[in-house]
Amino acid sequence: MATRPVDATTHSTPARGGGMDRRGFLSNAVMLLGLSVSYLTAFGFGLRYLFPSKNTAKKRIFIGLTSEMLPGSATAFRAPDGHTINVIHGPTGFRALSNVCPHLGCTVKWDPVGTEFVCPCHDGHFDADGVATAGPPADMGANLPTFEVFIEGDLVFLDLPEVA
Ligand code: FES
Repeated sequence: MATRPVDATTHSTPARGGGMDRRGFLSNAVMLLGLSVSYLTAFGFGLRYLFPSKNTAKKRIFIGLTSEMLPGSATAFRAPDGHTINVIHGPTGFRALSNVCPHLGCTVKWDPVGTEFVCPCHDGHFDADGVATAGPPADMGANLPTFEVFIEGDLVFLDLPEVA
């Protein structure tokens, strides 16, 4: 049996003392750097998930004239994000309220005779300021979400959160 000669130039030899050679060291360093970047990126995404930035920017939107919104009336307005907002000219002035019931999300309707909002799903009632007065929303203490109304002369505006 013949043995093949070993070419010493094609094999790397371990460094003295059993340590790692230069190629192994560089390979481990690149791998460690890649892992560090990956973990830092994942950590950054985790922080953004746990502590999302709050969009506090508001946009003022013209919705109509005060002279067109008679006392006791409700005017439905479609916000840029697609939600419907009711602007009420109630006994305490102009109010802007979401039309989504805080109980289970049904659409509330304005009752001009009773000057209140009524939710048809479980007979929830809200006054003209959006305060729950009867039904499941009152039991929960959940009022209609409100939006800021800004009046300038005869012009009515809503201050709404900017849509991203
Ligand atoms: S969803 Fe409005 S009262 Fe239940």
